[in-house]
Amino acid sequence: MIMRISVTRTRREHGHLSLAVRTALASFRLLLTVAGIVAAVAVRAEDGSEAIETPAARGFRFLTETALIPPDFQDETFQQVWQEWPERLRARASQASDAQRRQMAFERYGLTPRPGETTDEPLQYVVNESGGWCMNCFTCHGGTVYGQPVPGAPNNRIALHSLVEETWRSKIRHGLPPSRMDLGAMAIPLGTSNGTTNAVVFGMGLMHNRDAELNLVPAAPKLFTNHDMDAPPWWYFYKRPYMYIDGFAQKGHRGLMQFTLVPENGPDFYAKYEDSFRDVLAYITSLRPPKFPALVNQSLADRGRALFLDNCARCHGTYGENWTYPNRRIPLNDIGTDPVRLTALSVAGRQRYANSWFAKDAAGTRQQNITDPNGYVAPPLDGVWASAPYFHNGSVPTLWGVLNPDQRPAVWRAVSQKMNKENIGLTVEVLKGVPNTETDRVKRRGYFDTRLFGKSNKGHTYPDSLSTVEKRAVLEYLKTL
Ligand code: HEC
Ligand code: HEC
Repeated sequence: MIMRISVTRTRREHGHLSLAVRTALASFRLLLTVAGIVAAVAVRAEDGSEAIETPAARGFRFLTETALIPPDFQDETFQQVWQEWPERLRARASQASDAQRRQMAFERYGLTPRPGETTDEPLQYVVNESGGWCMNCFTCHGGTVYGQPVPGAPNNRIALHSLVEETWRSKIRHGLPPSRMDLGAMAIPLGTSNGTTNAVVFGMGLMHNRDAELNLVPAAPKLFTNHDMDAPPWWYFYKRPYMYIDGFAQKGHRGLMQFTLVPENGPDFYAKYEDSFRDVLAYITSLRPPKFPALVNQSLADRGRALFLDNCARCHGTYGENWTYPNRRIPLNDIGTDPVRLTALSVAGRQRYANSWFAKDAAGTRQQNITDPNGYVAPPLDGVWASAPYFHNGSVPTLWGVLNPDQRPAVWRAVSQKMNKENIGLTVEVLKGVPNTETDRVKRRGYFDTRLFGKSNKGHTYPDSLSTVEKRAVLEYLKTL
């Protein structure tokens, strides 16, 4: 039962959506139907009859319609941001129509239209009544699966720092004041490579001057380690009892609200929106991965399944109707992937969270949080073909690279949104280093350099005992998850 999304709109419609985007949206709806994604359950069927809105559908609508944090910039600033681009791109933009320019800006910053809707409002921001762009969860959790926008897919193209940097330059040019985000970005980079963000460190920083009931309290300034992460997909959340790569926080609707912790939001805000976040939890829990969009060699995949059960399932669980998920944490010196995320969060920081309003329920019962995890939890691999790049820091562009540690590129850059069908993952260019000739800062962030701090592509050598032929079989099986 898939109905077309047609949420009643109260806001002004932009109207100038290009034909290309419309066509993409139409084919995306098809993909949704084929894949059976229940990302957005309809509130109104195509024949106009009202359907009962499920909590999950309400949760999705809440996230796309409600501004939870103050705006970072005005729509007018976004329309003018092309004036800040490097000369050649600016020259192209100056010849383009408004709609084309908007598309160029979406492309540059990793934004997408909202699937199934005919306005050009981004999925990744809520544009409020006065035209202010407010970040929402989809900034990082609403990306594309090989070119198609999918709410809940990690946004592996988000260029958050670039967007904030260039809109601020535009504000300066037009005599507008900076937003809190502009000033924050000066102190803490929002993300050093496209597709990764410093979200976790921001969260810790914002928690630092709150008491257990989330009142602002004075606190001595503290330095945090900046660390970028690739957001996890939401479509395997239903399997996880604990959240985050180190699995330290038990899941619950209150915990999801941590991402709205800005100085403007205090205890009143959290009381007001608590019920809406029960819906958000229902929405995230309702998501399932898309289906692999091409043919799978079933006999090869069957062989891969047997190998997976022998070599991978003890950590990653089993799949299908009677799935199991062990929620297994692997000590850092065993897994060997980049250590920075684990050490960037202190025991004291995790304890602060565990003592707070976020980590208890309405009756006051505390969650069983783990404040000193010693490693990373093996995630479920549902839809793993659709969530490249891999590992928590997004350092490995293909699944073949995960299975073959010696073939992981040291420096790479995504060059198209097409799936790398052979190795399953991003289509990349492999380089020796970031070219000196690339002077556009935004484009420089398009290169992933695994030699930098927090960006290591090492570790996870488990498939070592498998032959190349066996690894091909495992890869085929991963397409079916
Ligand atoms: C600026 C980027 C960003 C924004 C905005 C953001 N997140 Fe995330 N989110 C992340 C990153 C990065 C992680 C991975 C954190 C980790 O594992 O340590 C994450 C992890 C999560 C997880 C854990 C998933 C799992 O399987 O462990 C949930 C759930 C989640 N976010 C929900 C939300 C919700 C709800 C919102 C909006 C209210 C939101 N996020 C906003 C970046 C973001
Ligand atoms: C001893 C436990 C363990 C075994 C065995 C294991 N893994 Fe993993 N795997 C992990 C952990 C932990 C991570 C998370 C590492 C990180 O993100 O830093 C991971 C990450 C991955 C990822 C990346 C997931 C993502 O979303 O980024 C893939 C793919 C994967 N494993 C596949 C496999 C396959 C296939 C096998 C068997 C050949 C296997 N793993 C065996 C523990 C294990």
